[in-house]
Amino acid sequence: MKEMLFYRCEKCGNMVALVKAGGGELTCCGQAMTKLQANTTDASQEKHVPAVVYENGKIKVAIGSIPHPMLVEHHIEWIALVAGNKFEMVYLKPGMEAKADFMCPMGEVEDIYVGKEDEIVPNCEGNPCNFVSKDKSLTEVTVYEYCNLHGLWQAKFSL
Ligand SMILES: [Fe+2]
Repeated sequence: MKEMLFYRCEKCGNMVALVKAGGGELTCCGQAMTKLQANTTDASQEKHVPAVVYENGKIKVAIGSIPHPMLVEHHIEWIALVAGNKFEMVYLKPGMEAKADFMCPMGEVEDIYVGKEDEIVPNCEGNPCNFVSKDKSLTEVTVYEYCNLHGLWQAKFSL
């Protein structure tokens, strides 16, 4: 999985991530849902395109290269990482920083994050989450974020 498709209902605001494409039309409130197109809103690229760095086994995502506001009326709702056969989403709230860390799913298997035996891998409250195994063949991940005013944005990242 390299891309994740997101749809929004323009009436009620329901938003869905399509985990498997069946081919039918998604509808909500009696009408077709809108397929979200990343990076198409006329807004500051610097405040919306995810800024992604690798550090100490983690993929650190900030929105964006200039920090995005996190006000009730204008904020980043979530950040998601798609890599290989995994998808992970971190929800944010106004007042938080527009950032999320993910365990890096790329690299050598020796770096596997195993956690402690009784540890519940957090999912996620802004901490490293469930990318606990690595895939050497993975070369690229896709990071998405959603701004409540400016919609869907994405960036690709390679080690
Ligand atoms: Fe925004």
